[in-house]
Amino acid sequence: MEGSSSASRYDETYAAWRADPEGYWAVAAQALDWDVAPRRIFDPGMGVYGRWFPDARLNTCHNALDRHVAAGRGEQPALIWDSPVTGRSATFTYAALRDRVARVAGALAARGVGTGDRVVIYMPMVPEAAIAMLACARLGAVHSVVFGGFAAAELAARIADAQPKAVISASCGIEPGRVVKYKPLLDAAIALSPHKPQHALILQRPEQPCELTPGRDTDFLEAETAATPHPCVPVAATDPLYILYTSGTTGAPKGILRDNGGHAVAVLHSMSLLYGLKSGDVMWTASDVGWVVGHSYIVYGPLLAGCTSVLYEGKPVGTPDAGAFWRVAAQHGVKVLFTAPTALRAIKKEDPEGRLLARHDLGRLEALFLAGERCDPPTAEWVHALLHRPVIDHWWQTETGWTITGNFRGLGLFPARFGSGGKPAPGYDLRVLDEAGREVPRGQIGTLAIRLPLPPSNLPTLWNADARFRSAYLEAFPGHYNTSDAGMVDADGYVWVMSRTDDIINVAGHRLSTGAMEEVLAAHPDVAECAVIGVKDSVKGQVPLGLVVLKAGVRREEAEIARDLVALVRERIGPVAAFKEARVVARLPKTRSGKILRGTIRRIADGETYAVPPTIDDPAILDEIAGVLASVEK
Ligand code: COA
Ligand code: AMP
Repeated sequence: MEGSSSASRYDETYAAWRADPEGYWAVAAQALDWDVAPRRIFDPGMGVYGRWFPDARLNTCHNALDRHVAAGRGEQPALIWDSPVTGRSATFTYAALRDRVARVAGALAARGVGTGDRVVIYMPMVPEAAIAMLACARLGAVHSVVFGGFAAAELAARIADAQPKAVISASCGIEPGRVVKYKPLLDAAIALSPHKPQHALILQRPEQPCELTPGRDTDFLEAETAATPHPCVPVAATDPLYILYTSGTTGAPKGILRDNGGHAVAVLHSMSLLYGLKSGDVMWTASDVGWVVGHSYIVYGPLLAGCTSVLYEGKPVGTPDAGAFWRVAAQHGVKVLFTAPTALRAIKKEDPEGRLLARHDLGRLEALFLAGERCDPPTAEWVHALLHRPVIDHWWQTETGWTITGNFRGLGLFPARFGSGGKPAPGYDLRVLDEAGREVPRGQIGTLAIRLPLPPSNLPTLWNADARFRSAYLEAFPGHYNTSDAGMVDADGYVWVMSRTDDIINVAGHRLSTGAMEEVLAAHPDVAECAVIGVKDSVKGQVPLGLVVLKAGVRREEAEIARDLVALVRERIGPVAAFKEARVVARLPKTRSGKILRGTIRRIADGETYAVPPTIDDPAILDEIAGVLASVEK
């Protein structure tokens, strides 16, 4: 297997960071252009747990675009759009991308958007999504991108919380076999939200144009053409660059805040440290701009580093086949490919022997990175045997913005252990804690926690919600950030991330809250109580399953109620939830104090052995539940 510990400079680099954390980040910060360079690196007294680069000023868009044009790389490709779902593609040089971004920034400024104003972006995987994000960054405005697979109600919740002055959207998205009309979803969301954005820029796509709402909407391209290019506006390093909402343990999503300075420093640093890339290299992150992975490694990371980024509007399979990833990687000379294990499982299912892969010249591909969920060793071994390249699983979260653990190409790889997410990145003091907050010995499972302060690019707080930030992340283990992931560190320092400690499930690399789905089911008039659990799925990792107890006297067909519930979750949360199964049960297993035993239900559903919990109210219920779960298709 690739990598050898003697060749890797990981240990000494991690030790150097530990010995002088501020010195480490001060050096990393020198890779950027600053309007006011940082004199102070970290202020422990500012914000909830301290802030990075408190006295510095910069503009993220300048660092991602203008700086490279000024350095003579204007004609180098910055962004390659590859869209098998439309049959189109386009390449944008750094100069061309800078010009489009400057005009869109001008269009936003003409509508009153300035530093600190929020802009919600609800777009499919088109170049204009990245252009919109960078245009906000250029003005010092704060973007909040919402993934296209969310329903109107979820978009409305984000609009209500972020209170944007403007929204940027498109007439439609294209999913295999169907066109998703975005405009009706946007209109419904704005109608639902108590806050109404004053302006909307709508990209008209030829596949399905839409009617514009007079007085609010402008055609994106017309607004761009009519606008005057806007220069970059320097902001404080601690000013927000974006808000990205992610699932919390309740229906209300958490607005993860990312600042300009810390984000630019850590994400740019990761491009060389972790991915081993330099300017001119091609990176392809097969994700969506609606997720953190897309923010960091489709848009900001590659552009901050002067690389070429591929933006892919398609799927791993079906657009047109399971060879799509290998075709894109070969055609664009991709050096590093980053995706989620679920995409590989989908490819493996259709092309287990890699026949489609063999048709493409992957000579320039150097490494495959995986994140979003733990990569199961069989999938890692399968793709490693086909590619003969390093396959690197790395563990991170929306909250962190870049990896917590990994294997670091810039330092020389250490030997891989499939199933482990690697070792902590410099910047992270990772601890494994028991329920009382005591460190557990190596090899023992506990909660993975990061000793404060969090490194640059990690969330300084939640948008307008310091108290929720403290209670959700900092209170369980004083002095630490609680990742809500359980796992262990083995004798050699490798980190193994095993499961969440809360109600979050991971469906096709997407993070979803079963609590939010339970809120939707509980709102159905026939439902007395319910539980949603994540059950194993061979492609998506996990899929949700709802169990409901009906109110006394309900006489409707169970199958009809189940159909209602599936439709309700799709309508309220969106197709991304992949909620396809609901079953009626007579009772739910509970503890004597009334807590639903979701973990036991999940183990029964997954066919795992389980002990009858000593606190269970009535053990006979478990047999009833097992009978119902046996009928669920796997
Ligand atoms: N806009 C509208 N709808 C969307 C959407 C979008 N941007 N993205 C997904 N959806 C819809 C899909 O059409 C599907 O709807 P359906 O129930 O009508 O079929 C539903 O949401 C679930 O989508 P998806 O999770 O993509 O499942 P799938 O069965 O279509 O495809 C995979 C399965 C594994 C191929 C796919 O999930 C995948 O590519 N995953 C990679 C995930 C990833 O990149 N994660 C980022 C973390 S790194
Ligand atoms: P998200 O915020 O959507 O990126 O989801 C973050 C969660 O996904 C983490 O808290 C983990 O539960 C899971 N996750 C992401 N990457 C990995 C990985 N490489 N290994 C294990 N779990 C992961």
